[in-house]
Amino acid sequence: MPSSPLQFPPAASMDVLYSKTQIAERVAAIGKQISEDYEGQSIVLIGVLKGAAIFLADLARAITVDATFDFVAVSSYGRARVSSGAVKLIKDIDNPIEGKHVILVEDILDTGLTLSYLRGLMLQHKPASLKIATCLDKPERRLVPIEADYVAFSIPNAFVIGYGMDYAERYRNVEDIRLMPPEVGGH
Ligand code: XMP
Ligand code: MG
Repeated sequence: MPSSPLQFPPAASMDVLYSKTQIAERVAAIGKQISEDYEGQSIVLIGVLKGAAIFLADLARAITVDATFDFVAVSSYGRARVSSGAVKLIKDIDNPIEGKHVILVEDILDTGLTLSYLRGLMLQHKPASLKIATCLDKPERRLVPIEADYVAFSIPNAFVIGYGMDYAERYRNVEDIRLMPPEVGGH
């Protein structure tokens, strides 16, 4: 499919919601908090592919306690921006988490469907504890009750890209978090 400029406008033309400096400050603060909360313990960071990859990479380096990584992948919105409500696991964790302190790391907590599903799935593995860290939280959009333990930014209802987050797989490498114009992909 040919991509017109309107379909995929340049990221530089979009308004910055959070700059890379603002993001770095919040990530450092969350990393410090996690390091304090888990002092003397080991943790497993489980990132939700692909959106959380960049947040996890930065957060992990802001954490001073012993940490390992794992990743899960779930069915995504794809081109559509409205959740079907059905979440499907595409990639499971590689290593057992029984008895471990686990933090699920996500890019956005939106309706809550993805993290509710993943939390239920991870709890079946009997971790010692399970918490949630999310870069962005859109509390207005929640369809199921779930809260994150660590949130970088709580935002109103808007569609964002950058810092790992995409529109049709694009813009993940944009350093800032930017607002997708409503006429293109915003809501
Ligand atoms: P739920 O609704 O299950 O969805 O909490 C979480 C997932 O939805 C995606 N999502 C977005 N992705 N910009 C994005 O690039 C957005 O504004 C946005 N809102 C939700 C995201 O992948 C998240 O993992
Ligand atoms: Mg995601």
